Amino acid sequence: MRLAIKPRINRLIDNIFQEANATATRLAQIRHPERRHPEHENYFETNCPGSAGHDFTDPASLLRHIETVSHLVPLTGEESVVSLGSGLGMDSFVFALIFCSVTGFEVDQEVITEARRIQALFGLTNINFIKRNFLEPKVDLSPYDLVYFYKPLEYDFEKKIGELVQSAKPGAIVISRAFPHRALHRQKKFKVIYPFDWDPTCRFMASDYYTAVRLKD
Ligand SMILES: C[S@@+](CC[C@H](N)C(=O)[O-])C[C@H]1O[C@@H](n2cnc3c(N)ncnc32)[C@H](O)[C@@H]1O
Repeated sequence: MRLAIKPRINRLIDNIFQEANATATRLAQIRHPERRHPEHENYFETNCPGSAGHDFTDPASLLRHIETVSHLVPLTGEESVVSLGSGLGMDSFVFALIFCSVTGFEVDQEVITEARRIQALFGLTNINFIKRNFLEPKVDLSPYDLVYFYKPLEYDFEKKIGELVQSAKPGAIVISRAFPHRALHRQKKFKVIYPFDWDPTCRFMASDYYTAVRLKD
């Protein structure tokens, strides 16, 4: 059976986004009021290793990408998803409305508390936000059908994520927002399925989703 994304979730996602957005603005005001920028008022620093800070996955583009992926690999809605660096939970909320279960790993306590508050507000019971650094010790990705991350690390991104995804199970889908995961491309264990005409020499393409599938050993 193919995945069907119901039209009704668009409205709900919009409401969740408004709440998450207001929360991010508030955290930015509290955490570093002197360095707020009018064009980045939702960005705030977290206490994560590597100083990536918090930024949102755009829910509409994520939804479109999931639809694209559903035409490339079979998806049923029964999949379990993991979000590495789940932040305020925007991608987790989108995934929770489509897939069976979502686990989010986030290192910043206040951020995860806010994510849980938004989760409760919208009654999304199939998400488990866990406070931990997913790199130390390395989280085991083998239970998950879909692995997602949006720029959780500024430094050594490729190396660290490249090592981490080794534990993904055969058939698992790995989606990276904004960063081409060239480390995956180089590994024989992964087949890049999106973008179709991806140029591995390209360093950075904002707002895109790089997607690979873990091959059988
Ligand atoms: C760019 S934000 C993305 C938030 C969310 N996934 C989204 O797309 O809307 C990256 C998040 O990863 C978290 N993070 C970075 N490194 C981490 C680590 N090693 N373990 C857990 N969380 C981490 C940061 O604290 C931040 O909240």
